[in-house]
Amino acid sequence: MYKDIRAVVAADFDAVNQFIVDKLYSDVALVESIGHYIIDAGGKRMRPVLVLLSARSCGYEGSQHIDLASVIEFIHTATLLHDDVVDMSSMRRGRPTANEQWSNPSSVLVGDFIYSRAFQVLVSIGSMDIMRIMADTTNRIAEGEVLQLINKNNSAATQESYMAVIRHKTAILFQAAAACGAILAGASAEQQKMLGDIGMHIGLAFQLIDDVLDYEGDASAMGKNIGDDLAEGKPTLPLIHAMRTGSAEDSALIKRCIESAAKDDKSTLDPRMLQDVIAIIQASGSLDYTRQLANAEADKALALIASLKDTPYRRALEDMARFSVQRST
Ligand code: IPE
Ligand code: IPE
Ligand code: MG
Ligand code: MG
Repeated sequence: MYKDIRAVVAADFDAVNQFIVDKLYSDVALVESIGHYIIDAGGKRMRPVLVLLSARSCGYEGSQHIDLASVIEFIHTATLLHDDVVDMSSMRRGRPTANEQWSNPSSVLVGDFIYSRAFQVLVSIGSMDIMRIMADTTNRIAEGEVLQLINKNNSAATQESYMAVIRHKTAILFQAAAACGAILAGASAEQQKMLGDIGMHIGLAFQLIDDVLDYEGDASAMGKNIGDDLAEGKPTLPLIHAMRTGSAEDSALIKRCIESAAKDDKSTLDPRMLQDVIAIIQASGSLDYTRQLANAEADKALALIASLKDTPYRRALEDMARFSVQRST
């Protein structure tokens, strides 16, 4: 299903992958090694595909959407390098994480390199409007990750605070991808905003499902471990909902799990505890509840997409909204 979406922009997609690899050059060998290690492992490349579809659906016929799509993937990749350090994750894109393979400092620093390379490419695109959005976006992603850090071990987190975190850390990059694609195409301010809203709803749906898959996904299909969020004491929506609606006993168990997760060691989570929590959030309907919310976001995206001109790109955008919920990878 996802490959059908990419097929709609196949030539552009190949050009983006080539551009990304070409732009990874550095005089410092370790920078190139780690850069290629994470980039060559692939990933779905959803955000750059969103740039391409957004620009094309607004009638763009130039070539700078390739550069812009690469910028967005670079920013995403840099956040992954940093996120895996913060989350102490050991698997990413089917490989040991860079922090596992090398070290935390090298992941952080190469993440910085990739961030700044993204901005070098942005300068060459030369649009002050796009530059402004990307500067604001990276700034907010950083806030989102800090907001999440503050909520670690916090069993009193609410659905509202959770939504604020995922909007900042994830949805805003999808929003920027779609909005900047429209800007590049010279779309009207109204159209730019609408594409941005479409991206934001897709991004929210995407992260809600990511947080479901952390409990019931297939690690080998996803290329990353499951149970990471609980081991870290991350109060995601499935846990927040279960504490709100479950029995006193079940709520207490989840609360204990969130609060007791060690600050600097994830291996302390007893695997039986994870199994118990999964059973609770399944029985309380908390995973279904999170999926429903994701569906509602995808529906909002679909309603907006329906007003775009009917092209293969519009249909691929619809598929992208559906994929963000139905995905298992
Ligand atoms: C992972 O994003 C990080 C989140 C925001 C959940 P993706 O699932 O898009 O990662 P890749 O790029 O496909 O590996
Ligand atoms: C990803 O959130 C956030 C960013 C990329 C900034 P997660 O921590 O849930 O992503 P995974 O599960 O590690 O991919
Ligand atoms: Mg993570
Ligand atoms: Mg996750």
